[in-house]
Amino acid sequence: MLIAHTIEELRAHLGGFQHPAFVPTMGNLHEGHLALVRQAKPLGDVTVASIFVNRLQFLPHEDFDSYPRTWDKDCAQLQAAGCDVLFAPNEKELYPEPQTFKVHPPADIADLLEGHFRPGFFIGVCTVVMKLFQCVFSEARGRRTAVFGQKDYQQLLVIRRMVQQFALPVEVVGGTTCRAEDGLALSSRNSYLSPDERAESVQLSDVLQTLATALRQGGADIAGLEAQAMDTLRQRGWLPDYVVARRRSDLQRPVADEPLVVLAAARLGSTRLIDNLEV
Ligand code: PAF
Repeated sequence: MLIAHTIEELRAHLGGFQHPAFVPTMGNLHEGHLALVRQAKPLGDVTVASIFVNRLQFLPHEDFDSYPRTWDKDCAQLQAAGCDVLFAPNEKELYPEPQTFKVHPPADIADLLEGHFRPGFFIGVCTVVMKLFQCVFSEARGRRTAVFGQKDYQQLLVIRRMVQQFALPVEVVGGTTCRAEDGLALSSRNSYLSPDERAESVQLSDVLQTLATALRQGGADIAGLEAQAMDTLRQRGWLPDYVVARRRSDLQRPVADEPLVVLAAARLGSTRLIDNLEV
């Protein structure tokens, strides 16, 4: 696996390839990321991953400084998963001056749910993804593919919309969420959980399963079911931001019989976890 720390090195490594398949990450990789790399592999003639902890998508009180950085392990895992090129710029390389040009995604998709509780989050995500796409895909001529995990369901939707509206020549592919045996969605932030919290954390996916089952069985009082799910978490000591059922297509409240996804974000101790399930 070749490692590029600068945009110039990256472009030199990718010069001979036409169809990059790209998996952007913030490092501290787990099986979920590696599954995305394996999914990307047959989709291009070179598999590229990036590791960059993007300050722009963290609020001032969030965990940018303490975000786990596990460079050696990440490199070994990426190599074993078949990644060909790793792009790992430092902040000076990707943001040599303050990034004042930013991508502002529209409120109807980016100011609700995650965007409501983490204002500016999707501006940071879209801006860095746009920039990473310029770095990774600029030498390509044919099909360009980027793979994003469905665990960040809203992020995937926002990126798809950005690609569509800017007519970026990139195909965005969603990767299924990897789960631990008890159902907890794999996430870099799971490493913050104490053993007791880890045992409790499975409740997030359990609550979503219960909500999804109720909806599948025809539960019509969606607001009531959402409130019940929030209460279940609160009674167990969680601080839920939201547990909701939304339309898959745009995350708006359902108005008719439409394909749904249930999504949740909640804090357990000092760790904020998110999860979702298509109904
Ligand atoms: O999902 C992530 O890890 C990040 O939001 C991403 C897409 C790598 C952008 O920093």
